[in-house]
Amino acid sequence: MRRKFVAGNWKMHGLKAQLKEIESIAATATAKPGVDVAICVPFTLIAPAVAAVPGFAIGAQDVHESGSGAHTGCISAEMLKEAGATLVIVGHSERRADQHETSHDAWAKAAAARAAGLHVILCCGETEEERDAGETDRVVAAQIAEIPSDARGDWLTIAYEPRWAIGTGKTPTEAEIAATHGAIRAKVQELAGADAADTIRILYGGSMNPANAAAILALSDVDGGLVGGASLTAEKFVPIIEAAAG
Ligand code: 13P
Repeated sequence: MRRKFVAGNWKMHGLKAQLKEIESIAATATAKPGVDVAICVPFTLIAPAVAAVPGFAIGAQDVHESGSGAHTGCISAEMLKEAGATLVIVGHSERRADQHETSHDAWAKAAAARAAGLHVILCCGETEEERDAGETDRVVAAQIAEIPSDARGDWLTIAYEPRWAIGTGKTPTEAEIAATHGAIRAKVQELAGADAADTIRILYGGSMNPANAAAILALSDVDGGLVGGASLTAEKFVPIIEAAAG
């Protein structure tokens, strides 16, 4: 039985003034021990957030695949760990679009994070054009093709985030979400075996909000959510956590 997992992705939002939102969110999370909750903040907010809510899972939104070196502006997994992060998002579609990251890059980052003991949320998802062409399953299968054969849910989570659903208020139908999550799980089983398929959580992301969360989180093969805009305030994120807690 996979525990539900709800993670917030604050993207390029958040100054110390917003730590009070994380404090409220963490208070709810502590009261709902049946669901795992995390927030992935900008690098500068990791240490202050960890200090504000000790024991609550704070993550980052990117990591470099190397341990150290001449990579101006980048950050290593050990640096994130030292700052207090326990998890990191890799392969987000905004990084694929803005920084031209590939799926190969994402899996290299995942390996570096895993080696440092960080939990990894690896994102996949199709564009609107690919969806319209009926290519969703093929695209996400290619994006997760480099999953290690020994992958397990204790260090890896996959987030399915249709690019056209991010920040748009649009979502796939419930049937489409369930079908794509099922296809991802089948691919994980094919590539990494039954243990991986049983333990790796597959989160849905893209315009998840308090109104649609309960229905999406109840779908088969949906083990939680990766939430952008609605994770920025306790007012919107807490109902999503409560929906996941059931
Ligand atoms: P929104 O919830 O704002 O659509 O963002 C989803 C997302 O990209 C989370 O990583």
